Amino acid sequence: MKKRKGIILAGGSGTRLYPLTKATSKQLLPIYNKPLIYYSLSTLMLAGIKDILIISTPQDIGGFQNLLGDGSDLGIRLEYAVQPKPEGLAQAFLIGESFLNGSPSALILGDNIYHGQGLYNILIEASDRVDGALIFGYHVDDPSRYGIASFNQDKKLEKIIEKPENPPSSIAVTGLYFYDVSVVEKTKTLKPSARGELEITDLNNLYLAENKLDIVVLGRGYAWFDAGTFESMLEASQFIRSIEKRQNLMVGSVEEIAYRLGYIDKNQVLQHIKNTKNSSLSIYLQSVINENS
Ligand code: TTP
Repeated sequence: MKKRKGIILAGGSGTRLYPLTKATSKQLLPIYNKPLIYYSLSTLMLAGIKDILIISTPQDIGGFQNLLGDGSDLGIRLEYAVQPKPEGLAQAFLIGESFLNGSPSALILGDNIYHGQGLYNILIEASDRVDGALIFGYHVDDPSRYGIASFNQDKKLEKIIEKPENPPSSIAVTGLYFYDVSVVEKTKTLKPSARGELEITDLNNLYLAENKLDIVVLGRGYAWFDAGTFESMLEASQFIRSIEKRQNLMVGSVEEIAYRLGYIDKNQVLQHIKNTKNSSLSIYLQSVINENS
């Protein structure tokens, strides 16, 4: 099997965050002490993925390039592509077809944040799958806003329903999806929905029809945020802040993850320390290398 590649979808209109998103992208806004996209990038890195395509709008793509460059200082390879209009999450696979070039993939939405003990193992297991697709569910209190999983009597996933009026469960499909190599061909058979988007839910239901879709429901020990509103941005920031303060460990530090996974060496961390000057990140990275020397 070719190595799995990642796609971060970081476009969209961000209209719920106006005027914050009038001049910049939602995924560049801060969640406590890091740009929002660091959290999704760190999730893909933890899944062992080193080849990543970042997709954003024509006006915002440059901001991501300025922030992350070609990824070499994190020991990864980053490419960039534009989505001219927000025509659906599944469009990522049409835009990313030549980047994927026949590799299995993982798609993550750039405004999603995952955290929890054991997440690393779950991600590595997901990444090692060869056939079919894997998605992640999470209990939510407002199911009519999400793609919701419907289960049969044997608790087997039966269908995903987009923004249901009468939700069959409270398990929402979150913004992280692992697919086998057939995803591009499957996406090409999709038709835009009534709202004019290529729906990820339709794509997932194609896998389900072939009996090739599994769901891992993340339970109490996990946090998942979809930071698309003022409330969820603040909640996510407070969550990250309290964990970081309490444990003196950073969440979503892509530099630390790159170092711990062996993607970069101590000298490259020292370079990050120099570049981040007198920020708390710089002090933190110094403590990470001290602990390991
Ligand atoms: P949404 O939160 O559904 O949309 P949005 O970001 O445009 O925000 P709003 O509803 O406030 O206008 O999108 C989920 C994520 O997917 C978000 O990170 C943006 C991204 N996205 C794209 O990059 N391209 C798309 O075509 C769509 C629909 C979403």
